[in-house]
Amino acid sequence: MERTFIMIKPDGVQRHLTGDIIHRFESKGFTMVGMKMMQVDRELAEKHYDVHKERPFFKGLVDFIVSAPVIAMVWEGEDVIASARNIIGATNPVSAAPGSIRGDLGVSIGRNLIHGSDAPETASAEVALWFDESELVDWEPVRKSWLYE
Ligand code: RTP
Ligand code: MG
Repeated sequence: MERTFIMIKPDGVQRHLTGDIIHRFESKGFTMVGMKMMQVDRELAEKHYDVHKERPFFKGLVDFIVSAPVIAMVWEGEDVIASARNIIGATNPVSAAPGSIRGDLGVSIGRNLIHGSDAPETASAEVALWFDESELVDWEPVRKSWLYE
């Protein structure tokens, strides 16, 4: 089983889309193992997006992430990292497929609603950056045998 870090960005919270977004991961078959609402500080936002620190959009991105609360989550399941990226859709909502979160709910790249880890290495680093081990819950979903062979 893999784990991935998912964050509903400030626009998703302000637009009251958190239920719609969480529902998509639950109904797909993934298991939430951690969730918290947070007002993010600049230090955490900058650390999270450190890979983009030289990019022209970096300051605007950090300003945006600290502008309102976010919902930080960890989701678990087989191949959840890649699958969550598909559920989320392409970075720019203009080219994100209909049916994806960004394709259905977003209109611009700077307000694309949600973050998802992009690889196993970034997933484990991001889970560790955002969550203390004690905030993650190990539990056995009863539907598991109906999701996996
Ligand atoms: P994320 O990290 O937020 O899940 O998004 P992503 O992997 O799909 O895209 P990434 O390349 O990592 O970019 C991170 C976030 O930066 C903003 N961005 N703005 N104005 C621009 O050209 C631009 N490019 C990227 C987006 O909010 C993107 O999600
Ligand atoms: Mg990214």
